[in-house]
Parts: sequence; C-alpha cells; structure tokens
Amino acid sequence: MPARPFLKWAGGKGQLLSELTRRLPAHFARYHEPFVGGGAFFFSLWNSGRLARGGVLSDYNSDLIACYQTVRDHAGELITRLLEHKAHAHDRAYFYEIRGWDRLPNFEQRSQIEKAARMIFINRTCYNGLYRLNNKGKFNAPFGYYKNPLIVDVDNMHEVSRALHNVELRVGDFADVLDRAEEGDFVYFDPPYAPLSPTASFTHYTGRGFGEDQQRRLAGVFRQLAERGCYVMLSNSYTELTREIYSKALHHDVVAETVRASRKINCDGAKRGFIDELIACSYDPGVGSREPGIGEQSIAVR
Ligand SMILES: C[S@@+](CC[C@H](N)C(=O)[O-])C[C@H]1O[C@@H](n2cnc3c(N)ncnc32)[C@H](O)[C@@H]1O
Repeated sequence: MPARPFLKWAGGKGQLLSELTRRLPAHFARYHEPFVGGGAFFFSLWNSGRLARGGVLSDYNSDLIACYQTVRDHAGELITRLLEHKAHAHDRAYFYEIRGWDRLPNFEQRSQIEKAARMIFINRTCYNGLYRLNNKGKFNAPFGYYKNPLIVDVDNMHEVSRALHNVELRVGDFADVLDRAEEGDFVYFDPPYAPLSPTASFTHYTGRGFGEDQQRRLAGVFRQLAERGCYVMLSNSYTELTREIYSKALHHDVVAETVRASRKINCDGAKRGFIDELIACSYDPGVGSREPGIGEQSIAVR
C-alpha cells in the first residue's frame, strides 16, 4: 500500500503533484527536501520507487521533525499512544487538556513518543488541522468538532515508517542543504508561498516570516545548487516577485513555467481555489515540446 502524509499541513500539494512528477529528472542520486512540511511529494516519490538512494528531509520546525523521527524509529509505541487518544477524539475538554501540556513545567520531561502522539492527535482534531503557535510558542489552534476524525491509520503509519527508514531527518534552515547536496542529487523546494497580495500573509508555519528577502535568499541557494550540478526544482506562487527572481536573477539555464493548480492557499481550508503557480527547474524538465495544458504557459525560458 502507498504511504501518505500522516499530518495535515498547510501547503499540501493536491493537483500540483502530477505537474511536479512529470518534471522529475530522469535519474538522480539522493533526494533533499528542505521545507518538508507534510511531505506529500516525498511520499509520492517513495511510492513510485524513485528513492533508492535515500535522502534528507528537513524543516525549520523542530516539533515536526521530531514527529517524523518518532514515526521512523518508534512506530509501534506511537500507534499505541494514538489509539489511547483516539478513544477521546470527540471530547473537547480532553483536547484542551492535551493541547495545554506545552504550558506546563514538565512538558520537556515528556517522552518523544508522548510529544509526537500529542502533536498528531491535536493536528487531527484541531480546527482545520492548522499548526499554529502563539507568540510564546504555545500551540493555540482551537478544537475542531469533527464528526469522525482519523486519529491514526495504523497501516499507513507502518508504511510511513518504512518510507523514512533510509532517510536522514534534520532541523534547520533551508540553506543548510548547501552543506549536504552533491552533484547529481535532486533538491525540491516548497517554500512558504510568496503572498499573492500585499495583505495576504503566510507566516503561520513557524511564527517567523518568509518575506521577499527570504525568497531572494532562497533563489541564491537555488542558483548555487544548480551550479554544483544538482537537479533543483521549486514550486511557488506565480507573482511579480517570483517571476522576476526566477527569470532574471538566475544567470544559468532555468526553466520556469506556470501551471494552474487547485491548492489550499488560504488559512481557511474551505477556501480552495485555482491559483497560478510557478515551477522552476534548473534542468530541462522535458515537458517543453508538448502543447501547454489548460491554463498553462511557459513564461520564461533560459
Ligand atoms: C509550504 S510548507 C511545505 C509544504 C509541504 N511540502 C507539504 O507537502 O505539505 C513550508 C514549510 O517550510 C518550513 N519553513 C519555513 N521557513 C523555513 C526556513 N527558513 N527553513 C526551513 N524550513 C522553513 C515550514 O515549517 C513549513 O513546514
């Protein structure tokens, strides 16, 4: 059975997955995903047998990476804890009690398994599956009132654990990939999207912003990796800013295309819409000769 993301994470891929898949390099060595989030693309690659050489998944969010580590190394015990939580999936008071653990002095003494089970349980039962911290770093999304929340899919958890077996997990900034990626490796970047309008903000992932300066810093890392001979692919919203930095600022071969995809882009998951997205590749993604799909056009070539 295929492995699927075990957390709901803002920025999940949806329809974009097929667009990314058709642009994969024909061959690559290791895989690196420095903004792993829910890991939708990683799981899709693993399911299609493309990760024989393993790779490195990383994210700035240390709770998230600890959760991945726990699934990889302690899936059985984690499942046991989640089944205990599952018995209380409709209990609002229980939700707030578990959510409130991070406000208590003994939180750091809790085991890695307890903390991971808490994170998954809250993620599955809180409003919209949002990972949201207040300015003191405490989880603060409210109870979600789901009729039938899926707390744990046991088979999937074991499959995810297998998928992660050959994978290194790291906490850190995306630029750390420069210390690891080698010629022939494949690097996929799925950063917090550049806002579509000046008022929209997508900074809730880590409590830190990801503004224009970060987008430009990321473009610099993209360029360095490409110069090293890595295959680099990036998805982002299609805005004035991203169009500019992935066509002009990079001096070597970059193919940037827009695709129209359905993606949850709003904090309110109910508002799912079509937005134009940009996919930039540091190599010829091999789809240039076909007719563009609906709503798709090539915007900047080399
Ligand atoms: C758009 S989400 C990734 C979505 C993911 N690919 C998926 O399929 O669910 C962006 C991720 O970037 C992480 N992030 C934000 N700023 C970062 C930084 N400077 N370095 C590394 N990760 C960062 C966030 O914690 C979040 O998990």
